[in-house]
Amino acid sequence: MNFAALPTAKRAPSDAAHGTGASRERFTAFLADEASEQAVRQCVLEMALPNSSVHRGNIARVVTHLQSVRSPTALMVDVSGSELPVTEIHKLAEVCEPGVSVVVVGDRNDVGLYRNLVRAGVADYIVKPLTRSLLQNVLTSQLEGNAAVTAGGFAHQKLGTVVAVVGTRGGVGATTIAANLAWYLANNETRRVALVDLDIYYGDVALTLNLKVAGGLREVLENPTRIDELFLERAMVLSGKRLYVLAAEERLDVPVRIDPEALPTLLEPLRKQYHYVILDVPRQPGALIEQIMEAAGIRVIVADQTAHSIRDAVRLRRFFDAPQANQRNVIVLNRSGELGKTDISQKVMSETLGLAIDVTIPYHPKSIIAAANAGNAVVASKGPVTTAIQELASELVGRREVKRRRLFG
Ligand SMILES: Nc1ncnc2c1ncn2[C@@H]1O[C@H](COP(=O)(O)OP(=O)(O)OP(=O)(O)O)[C@@H](O)[C@H]1O
Ligand SMILES: [Mg+2]
Repeated sequence: MNFAALPTAKRAPSDAAHGTGASRERFTAFLADEASEQAVRQCVLEMALPNSSVHRGNIARVVTHLQSVRSPTALMVDVSGSELPVTEIHKLAEVCEPGVSVVVVGDRNDVGLYRNLVRAGVADYIVKPLTRSLLQNVLTSQLEGNAAVTAGGFAHQKLGTVVAVVGTRGGVGATTIAANLAWYLANNETRRVALVDLDIYYGDVALTLNLKVAGGLREVLENPTRIDELFLERAMVLSGKRLYVLAAEERLDVPVRIDPEALPTLLEPLRKQYHYVILDVPRQPGALIEQIMEAAGIRVIVADQTAHSIRDAVRLRRFFDAPQANQRNVIVLNRSGELGKTDISQKVMSETLGLAIDVTIPYHPKSIIAAANAGNAVVASKGPVTTAIQELASELVGRREVKRRRLFG
């Protein structure tokens, strides 16, 4: 595709200040003492590693650093002197991109610590002093992608979570929820989020977030062999610092032939770079919706309290029945209270669906209209819809489970 034709406004920036794409480093190291810093610097020089940088600083500094730039492919951090190294690594994982290979340097020769770090998903733990051969082995292994060997044979790369948002009927609010959830996770939970509007004809994710579509999604769906990191970066539009939107506004008279490989080929690189890949799912029947529901780790099903919605939710059930062990359904009731007394009660809804309602979002046109007028996300301001989306975000982030989950791996 012709990238020169893409609108420049709000396109993902490529300047180093934002640390996106081309400026993403291959290797970044932060070492707490001069001798270690020099040893790594020397090793990087000898190995002639391009696109790398070595800095002085402890892990807290790395956390601050990664809040403003993109994570490198491989990262070295130093936990020497830290009383709670594992806690620090968990904090790092909150800001670090999912697919990053993390090597921890420390001064404690402690098998228990090694195990805990590996369990948290780091690729390797090495103890000072940092010798040349030790560093060369570790770096070669991390950068050549066979880090699993140093990490004791487990695949350490964590991938982002795919969240599919599907409405049970038209206008139920699926797009509003997908867009605002994505905005909330990116801005209030400092996660890197990719929001993909798979409704290529009528999708209005970009409109909801007041963005200009960059184009490229059609190519992605028709020619998945063209998908790579650079291609995606140019096709995605940036909203704020961490929310990237992939959307299209295709002409209705030109049918798009979706390649069956498109979805898996698209999700693979996205899951490596984003903590969440949120899909706004069109309701058209076909192979795509089947693939989406299968690929999604979290399926957010949006319904309202109408008979139509319940009937269609029951029809959709075969897509979200019997989730796999690594899948979860989250049932959202939107527009609650819209019809007053004629609303079907939540109790009846739950019973008919055979599913509990996880999150209820009130019908509140005032906040929706105010956000639209301001050209902003609803969740950028406080209000009843924001509170409910916040609850939904907590469901996804899994507040109570966060300490137990593996972070990088
Ligand atoms: N909780 C709510 N309170 C008031 N209005 C809402 C609420 N949720 C969504 N809306 C409004 O309802 C309309 C439809 O919402 P939206 O486009 O998100 O639905 P959808 O399910 O994605 O629809 P489509 O089937 O067209 O894709 C929009 O104008 C939106 O602003
Ligand atoms: Mg929609």
